[in-house]
Amino acid sequence: STQTPEPYRGNNQQCFAYITIKERLPTILVKAMDCFLRNAPRLFKHNPHLPNEQREAMESDCKAVIAKFSQLRYEMMTDKELKCISGECNDVLLWNRALLELQEKQNNVTWFSSPWLFAECLMYRKISEFFKSSIHFSSFDPFEEQKKEALISSIRTAHLLAEFLCRHKCEAEIDEKQEFLSFLQLSLWGNKCDLSLSSGEQRPQDDNFITDLLKYKSFILCDNSDRLWDFVHSLKSNSKRIIIDIILDNAGFELFTDLCFVEMLYVIDVLNIETSLVRFHVKKIPWFVSDALKKDFYWLLEYIINLTDLETLSKLGSKWKNYLSEGLWVILEEDFWTLPYDYSEMQRIAPKLYSTLQEANLLIFKGDLNYRKLTGDLQWDNFTHLKTALRGFLPSSFCALRTIKADVVVGLSDKLSLNDLPSNWKTSGEYALIQFVECN
Ligand code: F6P
Ligand code: MG
Repeated sequence: STQTPEPYRGNNQQCFAYITIKERLPTILVKAMDCFLRNAPRLFKHNPHLPNEQREAMESDCKAVIAKFSQLRYEMMTDKELKCISGECNDVLLWNRALLELQEKQNNVTWFSSPWLFAECLMYRKISEFFKSSIHFSSFDPFEEQKKEALISSIRTAHLLAEFLCRHKCEAEIDEKQEFLSFLQLSLWGNKCDLSLSSGEQRPQDDNFITDLLKYKSFILCDNSDRLWDFVHSLKSNSKRIIIDIILDNAGFELFTDLCFVEMLYVIDVLNIETSLVRFHVKKIPWFVSDALKKDFYWLLEYIINLTDLETLSKLGSKWKNYLSEGLWVILEEDFWTLPYDYSEMQRIAPKLYSTLQEANLLIFKGDLNYRKLTGDLQWDNFTHLKTALRGFLPSSFCALRTIKADVVVGLSDKLSLNDLPSNWKTSGEYALIQFVECN
């Protein structure tokens, strides 16, 4: 039978949601506050040209933001009811409608009793509200430093990756499938670097990132990459314009691996620079600590372009910047990605976005959060087919690349014996999935 299971919630102590809402999210709030406190006063404290009145206004604006953070942290830790969103942004109505829909299904929707996915999204939306409602700090991103550091601390590995990608200029022949699989896995493992799992602690990549791929193959618990390759390879004979959409996850090193993956598709002639189109979907507001925003994407390009002593990397950056200015690559922002809805609701809530995705030959969903939204973050049996868990969402053929950092996992083979895995296999980020669903 295909009864839809219940969502994961923080009030189940067996679930990662519990520890997340009890400990990890409060820590993330403290770090965001701390980042704001370290940076905001610089704007007004030591500026002799600022009239006193204005300085005071900024100071009290700053205090108001901090007070809101503390209040939110208190409400979360003491399991108070979820409150609606205020402000003038386009998504406010949709957010509050979503909360209302939830309250109609469940009375007393609190931080721990609400679906985990909802509560966690709400926290990030609230943070954004605190800054947007301030007068002087409306575009402040409390995770920016961490996102930048996530690339800077792994820049040597990024350079090695760039050289690995560009080595074909010297080699006569490359094994296309092998090349595809390598960069697919590099982009997959790039997802390990997310900062929300580690509550913001950096986990820099080491030099063995490329050579260790084989060693990590057994950590991919479901690997549809052979089927994905057949599909991607068949696109080559497609006479129409190829469109690939990447629903991005994290900025920094992960984004770099994603861009390398796309670049590899030109190298093996799946994409061509005359006609193909690649669309990158980013978040509109700071999200789950490390998720990529448009400005993070541009920052990455500028940062690597300016590394003139790492020539391969710098040239790659310039090349990518050109792709953007020539319209071969586009960056798209949509409110839907930062709403609390899972993807089975996309057609109802964001029909235009759904039809945009339908135009693509292939969609790539990066990361853990995208996976939770694909499957609704529901308590599926691990052997449920991914297609069942999608509950009707299938705008086009897609691949999910995810290192496992939350409870929901579907599509495993019953030959896999889960008892042999360490008990924290769902939350360590050490295990991964490459799942492909063809839409026909
Ligand atoms: O629980 C781990 C977690 O913080 C989840 O809340 C979230 O789904 C995930 O990490 C974020 O990871 P990713 O950047 O891969 O989506
Ligand atoms: Mg993320």
